[in-house]
Amino acid sequence: MNQLSVNLPGLHLKNPIMPSSGTFGFGERHMGKFDYNILGAIIIKSTTSQARTGNPEPTYHQLDTGILNAIGLKNPGVDVIVNEKLPALKDFDTPVIASVAGNTTAEFVEVTKKLCQSPYVKALELNVSCPNVAEGGLTFGSNPESVRSMTEAVKKVATVPVYVKLTPNVTDIVAIAQAAEQGGADGISMINTFSSMAIDLETRKPILSNKTGGLSGPGIKPIAIRMIYQVSRAVSIPIIGMGGVSTVDDVLEMIIAGASAVAIGTAQYNNPLVCKELIEGLPIRMKELGIESIEGLIKEVKEGRLNEN
Ligand SMILES: Cc1cc2nc3c(=O)[nH]c(=O)nc-3n(C[C@H](O)[C@H](O)[C@H](O)COP(=O)(O)O)c2cc1C
Repeated sequence: MNQLSVNLPGLHLKNPIMPSSGTFGFGERHMGKFDYNILGAIIIKSTTSQARTGNPEPTYHQLDTGILNAIGLKNPGVDVIVNEKLPALKDFDTPVIASVAGNTTAEFVEVTKKLCQSPYVKALELNVSCPNVAEGGLTFGSNPESVRSMTEAVKKVATVPVYVKLTPNVTDIVAIAQAAEQGGADGISMINTFSSMAIDLETRKPILSNKTGGLSGPGIKPIAIRMIYQVSRAVSIPIIGMGGVSTVDDVLEMIIAGASAVAIGTAQYNNPLVCKELIEGLPIRMKELGIESIEGLIKEVKEGRLNEN
């Protein structure tokens, strides 16, 4: 067993670090800046059935504690992703997790079928922070029954493991995670951004053209840690954790909270080399803390959890 490696459904990770969906594009932006072979995995930008142009500018606002973004699900559509974007990653020995999005369960199913035809996709992440058109535009992810039935529908057609990515914009995230597990999810990915707003004092109007956007970055980390801690005690499937992670200590904190791997969003968006720096820094900090391996730490945390109950 390698000191940093982690095995999850469908994924043999060389280490627990990966860029999160939407902050690494389809890998093209940073190709050549560092060797993608070092990454635990790559989660690509969310994919819809047809191309989407995203929201009009401004879609980004920098805060002291993170960023607000309303980029939306800007992507070239699943056919271009399967035929052009995924093959561009074929030379890397790094598992690719494709992110599925849509406005109906039928769209999630269609995108899943197409992504599963690509030999380069090793797992799927369902971005359930999407408006459910059939239910008046409320996000799929805010209703346990929608999450359960959508996961079930996707699992029927998926040929790779399915991770359901939870939105934190809910009253009871544990109920949503349990619904995903009941629907057959192989893992949970959490958390997506917090619905937020910032106002310009001069114009007296919201700064983002979309008015609201998603808050991410260091300011959300304590909430992500709390949610991962609670969900890890309520489901038996593994969690890919994310939310405000930017340092090696944040990575270890998230694993101790209950995650089995960690995705980096805002920090990745701001610094293309952050994953490389974290992967290099992890063994040094582990040695200082007497942590022999990531798998060992995950096991220790799990056993501690069982003893609590
Ligand atoms: C610019 C930007 C674009 C994002 N796009 C997506 C996306 O397409 N799909 C998705 O599931 N999450 C998306 N996210 C959410 C991140 O993957 C991540 O879940 C969230 O930002 C929390 O992690 P962080 O605090 O490390 O950024 C995006 C986040 C940012 C900052």
